[in-house]
Amino acid sequence: MVYDTDKIDNGLMENYKTLFSPLQYKKISILEVGIFKGGSLLYWDDYFQHPETVIVGLDLSLPSVEFGDRIQVFECDQNDSEGLQAIAEQYGPFDIIIDDGSHFRKETENCFRELFTEVVTGGYYVIEDWAAGYWRDRPMYAGMVDLINDIVARIPELSISESRIILEKNKALAFFRKGENGWRE
Ligand SMILES: C[S@@+](CC[C@H](N)C(=O)[O-])C[C@H]1O[C@@H](n2cnc3c(N)ncnc32)[C@H](O)[C@@H]1O
Repeated sequence: MVYDTDKIDNGLMENYKTLFSPLQYKKISILEVGIFKGGSLLYWDDYFQHPETVIVGLDLSLPSVEFGDRIQVFECDQNDSEGLQAIAEQYGPFDIIIDDGSHFRKETENCFRELFTEVVTGGYYVIEDWAAGYWRDRPMYAGMVDLINDIVARIPELSISESRIILEKNKALAFFRKGENGWRE
């Protein structure tokens, strides 16, 4: 099968497979913000094998793709806190959340604020393509690098047990793994 997602060409899928391989055969719930043509959702549907795994996607508008039974898609703006909470109530808590949506600071920050608490202990919250914030000719992404820095600065208060910032040419990923507790009140 050919998956129409840039995660394959830019090499991110290799990073994801390394990260997520312990979850491949477990029953999990995964949420991806940003569906576009649905290629990554279809990829997750093939990759994660447990029959009761649930794959949830949200986007401003939905592609006309026939998704399988394990995939649920929603029209939702990542600025819409109530909409995000309604999805989390129905399908959370999540083992994995990937924000591959707007890549604007405000939206990305809103999602993180609303949804990081909806990640299970040991689960992953991933912010993809945050290095768009370095692009001088696209000021709309300004603030994304600062957002990652701000989250890192707050690690002692947030329940983050592990984090990794991957930045290579055409490839940027930041993941934050949920721990039991923060280590500073
Ligand atoms: C990079 S594409 C997603 C690609 C997909 N995850 C994949 O790997 O194939 C980004 C998507 O985010 C969506 N998006 C942009 N702003 C958004 C917002 N405020 N709320 C929800 N989705 C948004 C766009 O409509 C677009 O489909």
